[in-house]
Amino acid sequence: MKVAVLLGGTSNERPVSLVTGEAVIKALRDTGHDVTPLDVGPDIAATIASLKSAAPDVVFNALHGPRGEDGAIQGVLEWLGLPYTHSGIRASAVAMDKGATRILLAAAGLPVAQGRVVTVEELAEADPLPAPYVIKPVAEGSSVGVEIVRAGDNRRAEIAQTWRFGKDALVESFIPGRELTASVMGDRALAVTDILPCETAAFYDFEAKYKAGGSRHVVPAVLPQAVTDRALDYALRAHQALGCQGASRTDFRYDEKTDTLIILEVNTQPGMTPTSLLPEQAAYCGIPYPDLCDWMVREALM
Ligand code: DAL
Ligand code: MG
Repeated sequence: MKVAVLLGGTSNERPVSLVTGEAVIKALRDTGHDVTPLDVGPDIAATIASLKSAAPDVVFNALHGPRGEDGAIQGVLEWLGLPYTHSGIRASAVAMDKGATRILLAAAGLPVAQGRVVTVEELAEADPLPAPYVIKPVAEGSSVGVEIVRAGDNRRAEIAQTWRFGKDALVESFIPGRELTASVMGDRALAVTDILPCETAAFYDFEAKYKAGGSRHVVPAVLPQAVTDRALDYALRAHQALGCQGASRTDFRYDEKTDTLIILEVNTQPGMTPTSLLPEQAAYCGIPYPDLCDWMVREALM
């Protein structure tokens, strides 16, 4: 098949997308596809012209973050009448907005942490929640901009003053315990991974995600079967509640002491770098990386 792979993009996750994209390009070539890589920059007209001249059967979206994961590029591809991998406009837009995601998940009966979207002015004035709590950009990925405020550390005002992610921020109670994640391929939740950041990382931040040795992934996570089943069920239901297509990955916090499992977010463009979680879970389920990419391309045409 003729596949155009969109990679790069203009978001803070551009470096991640370049690694994802290169790995996908190689895998699709290895499975016999005719691949055209397209590095997406600020000039969208140039990307559209390249897509028109490549005339692919399907577009593999290997972008992450704003404009690649939030419905914007999906809208362009809809205009061009080109089938593409992963979620459509609506699910992408909702999942990229962590405030909207919370509302939809809660309405579907799925657990989210206590929290809300606040303006930067509100955040500058007072603690929006009892510490410890987490401050996050409403629409970023890969933990870009995520801050944990602990009792007595007085960082809130400074974080508000230097905030560079728009006029709002999401605040959520910090759930102690473990970081878990579960991927979905179509109508199947694959596995649960336990993410153990290395000792120097405060949490599973950008470095822990992408630096070799930054974190350790245990798949399948060592958990009581009932907790594994609950995470798999939540991941599939979250995928469906948002109307996702193809593959997605839902991230969780799990507090063993209180048996609390909450959803942090749904990723509609899960990372596909060699150290990424979805490829590891697929491999655990007997689906090698090239087969995963090939499945995504075929699924996009269904
Ligand atoms: N946002 C990164 C790429 C992920 O969710 O895997
Ligand atoms: Mg994300």
